[in-house]
Amino acid sequence: MEFNHYSVMLEETIENLNIKPDGIYVDGTLGGAGHSSEIAKRLTTGKLIGIDQDANAIEAATERLEPYKDRVEIVRSNYENMVNVVHSLGYDHVDGILLDLGVSSFQLDTASRGFSYRDEDAVLDMRMDQRNPKTAADIVNEYSEMELFHIIRDFGEDRFAKNIAKHIVKARAEKRIETAGQLNEIIRAAIPKKIQVTGGRPEKRTYQAIRIELNRELEVLRQNLTDMIDLLNEDGRICIITFHSLEDRIVKNNFRTNENPCTCPSDFPVCVCGKKSKGKVITRKPILPSDKELEENSRSKSAKLRVFERHIAE
Ligand SMILES: C[S@@+](CC[C@H](N)C(=O)[O-])C[C@H]1O[C@@H](n2cnc3c(N)ncnc32)[C@H](O)[C@@H]1O
Repeated sequence: MEFNHYSVMLEETIENLNIKPDGIYVDGTLGGAGHSSEIAKRLTTGKLIGIDQDANAIEAATERLEPYKDRVEIVRSNYENMVNVVHSLGYDHVDGILLDLGVSSFQLDTASRGFSYRDEDAVLDMRMDQRNPKTAADIVNEYSEMELFHIIRDFGEDRFAKNIAKHIVKARAEKRIETAGQLNEIIRAAIPKKIQVTGGRPEKRTYQAIRIELNRELEVLRQNLTDMIDLLNEDGRICIITFHSLEDRIVKNNFRTNENPCTCPSDFPVCVCGKKSKGKVITRKPILPSDKELEENSRSKSAKLRVFERHIAE
């Protein structure tokens, strides 16, 4: 299977992972194994554990990592299960973790997966894990108007969320919404013509919102970051590449809190809350793609890389 994927900030990520040839590394979003093959290449006695929930990604990554199969374990799962996956393979802690969030170009470019508003005939699917029964069409056809409004506003940050939700509910009362073409037409009718001319594809934000909701993207990230930091050995690093401000904010705030979790009032002379730092933020400001990368890969445009290093308090 051809799995074309330009790995975002590849060099920057590998450099920041500080790979030791005998270390244990986890890639929680394996995709086509672009980043992972660079990690595996640098290992001798170490191990790479690659996790992805998408069957096609697992197939493509297995092929790509074939030359390194003596040092690679590939597991089809959600990275929310990372701690269990690592323990079940016999490791207590790891030396580095990578998350390159969001959809792969392969998922976006495969019409049958239903991630793109560009494929008018595609059915509204958007599942990263094809084993899940719920699809994007179920959200569009079954969520209440209020729920649709909230997800389009909060996960799509679309200022026309209210009107889009209203138009969806009205349209589906006549006929179930099954394809991207149908949904695109409804969204376009809900957005003022003037905005449509100047503001790029008006469907983009609603699609992002539905995808985030369906795959529980923010919830999985928020609920598992601290457990992933706890999984790191002393000096181990976690590198996270995000693609929109909602994800980036979660990572930034979590890293900051784990660096300085103390909740004592600022006028207390000594800490009494007892919460100990888990390490330090390596990237005060996120690392951004180089101009060269931005030119070569439009998907890098909104990417940000943040890095945290584990230090175990005495
Ligand atoms: C941007 S791609 C990764 C590309 C990869 N770094 C490369 O260079 O080829 C993101 C991948 O993460 C997977 N993914 C996203 N969220 C996930 C989650 N919660 N658990 C497991 N896999 C996830 C997607 O299925 C997709 O294959």
